[in-house]
Amino acid sequence: MSFIVAIDGPAAAGKGTVSKAVAAHFGFAHLDTGLLYRVVGRAALASIGPSLDPERVIELSTEVKPEDLERTDLRTAAVAQAASKVAAIPEVRANLVTFQREFANRSGGAVLDGRDIGTVICPDADVKLFVTASTERRAERRFKELEERGEDTSYEGVLADVIARDKRDSERESAPLIAPEDAHLLDTSDMSIAQAVAEAIAIIDAKR
Ligand code: DC
Repeated sequence: MSFIVAIDGPAAAGKGTVSKAVAAHFGFAHLDTGLLYRVVGRAALASIGPSLDPERVIELSTEVKPEDLERTDLRTAAVAQAASKVAAIPEVRANLVTFQREFANRSGGAVLDGRDIGTVICPDADVKLFVTASTERRAERRFKELEERGEDTSYEGVLADVIARDKRDSERESAPLIAPEDAHLLDTSDMSIAQAVAEAIAIIDAKR
């Protein structure tokens, strides 16, 4: 039997960390759906360049393979922005739906995290979480993460990127980032990772 946990929220809110920990705790599979858009964004930057011509981006979105999600060059700031841009193209989103739904409906349970999991991809998910944090906290976390990876970056630059991405992800017409009405809100601004994970596990336990 499948059990679906949908985790949505803005960039750098802690979705990834919470999702991985929750999946490990319950023995569920985990899909970071942002990686799908990052794969398309990376390929578009590499083969089309910064213009991101929609026709060609749509074509690239039909060519995503599961092994592409393992690439190590998907986490850069440039790829994040490109991902957010290609994600605003409705046809790109449509081309990625089947992969996500098949993953969600596997037996044994699945955790999917992204922006539209509880609203569009899995509206009937067993549990929906909306993980968020203040813009400044999210920028601080993302800045530390990029710094630790040796990326040449500044806090102000990361903050501007986070704000731009939030705006694009929330204001697009197609599947914008919004908290599903039936989601549990998890504001991690003043929480440790352990606290956020414990709270998520408690919410899911209550539904099982
Ligand atoms: O979660 P992330 O930062 O890796 O996502 C990168 C971009 O992909 C994000 O800015 C918007 C887009 N995205 C989306 O539109 N829908 C999803 N379910 C996941 C990500």
